[in-house]
Amino acid sequence: MDWRLRLDEYINIINKEIEQYISSKGDKNKTLIEAMEYSLKAGGKRLRPVLALASYDIFNDHVANILPYACGLEMIHTYSLIHDDLPAMDNDDYRRGKPTNHKVYGEGIAILAGDGLLNYAFEIMLRDALTHNNIRPFVESIHEIAAAAGVNGMIGGQVVDLESENKAIDAETLDYIHLNKTAALITAPLKIGAIIAQADQEDIENMGYIGENLGLAFQIRDDILDIVGTQEKLGKNIGSDEGSKKATYPAIHGIDHSIEKVKELTSNANKALSKYNGKARFLSELSNYLVSRES
Ligand code: IPE
Ligand code: IPE
Ligand code: MG
Ligand code: MG
Ligand code: MG
Repeated sequence: MDWRLRLDEYINIINKEIEQYISSKGDKNKTLIEAMEYSLKAGGKRLRPVLALASYDIFNDHVANILPYACGLEMIHTYSLIHDDLPAMDNDDYRRGKPTNHKVYGEGIAILAGDGLLNYAFEIMLRDALTHNNIRPFVESIHEIAAAAGVNGMIGGQVVDLESENKAIDAETLDYIHLNKTAALITAPLKIGAIIAQADQEDIENMGYIGENLGLAFQIRDDILDIVGTQEKLGKNIGSDEGSKKATYPAIHGIDHSIEKVKELTSNANKALSKYNGKARFLSELSNYLVSRES
C-alpha cells in the first residue's frame, strides 16, 4: 500500500478515537471543553500518534491496544502548543491555520485548556491501563510519556529555550533544547509502540534511537521552515524565531549545515529501521518525507 494511503488510514483512526474522548459538551465547564476541542481539532499533522501506531504495527497487529496512548500523546502535544504560543512564551497569533487558543478564549482559559488536556491525557491512559490483566507494559508506557513530557523532557527543553532568548548559546545547549522540547515527545510514541506491542528490550531501545534522530531532525526542519516556509502551508507565523531572537539551528550553524544535518539524522534513523525490512517501510517513507516537508 502507498505510504500516504496508510498515513490517511492512521489519521482517520486517530481522529475517530479523539472524537470519542472529546464529544461531551460539558456543563458549567463548557468553555473549557470548547477551548480544549478548538485546539485539538484545529488540524494538526497527528505526527506523534501516527508514530505510535506505526511503531506498534512493526511488532504486533492488534492496533486497538495503542489508541488511548496515541491520543494521550496528541493531547499532551496540543497542550504544549497552546502554552508555547502564550504571550509569556513565544507570543504567537496563529496555530494550525487558526488564531491561537489565547487569541480566541483569552490567556486564562488557554492556560486552563492546556492544563485540562494534560490531565485528561493521563486520565484516559490510566483508565485504559486499569482494564488490562497484564498491566505492566501499559504503566511502563505511561511512565515513559510522563518522563518525556516532564522536567527532564519537553518542559525542561522549553525552559532552556526561554532562557536562551537573546543569548549566544553553545551547540551543546542548543542540542539540549531540541532533544528535550521536541525529540522527547517524538521518541516516546516510537518507544511505547514497541513496549505495548511487547517487543524485545533491544527493539524498544532501537525505536528510542530512531526517535531521537527523527525528533532532532524534525525540530531542525521546524527552525528552517520558520525562515523559508510560508504561513499558508505551515498554519503558523513565520519569522517568529528571528523576532524573539531564539536559539535555533540555522542561527547557530547556518542554514546549509542545518539542511545537511536533517539529512544525516534521517539517514541514521533509516539505517536503524532497515532491520525490520518491509515492516518498517511506512516509517522509512514518512521519515524521508519529513526531510523536505513544508507543513
Ligand atoms: C510543532 O509540532 C511544534 C514542534 C515541536 C516543532 P508539529 O509541527 O508536529 O505541529 P502540529 O501538531 O502539526 O500542529
Ligand atoms: C516548540 O518549539 C516545542 C514545543 C514544546 C511546543 P517551537 O516554539 O519552535 O514550535 P513552533 O514553531 O511554535 O511550532
Ligand atoms: Mg517555543
Ligand atoms: Mg513556538
Ligand atoms: Mg518553531
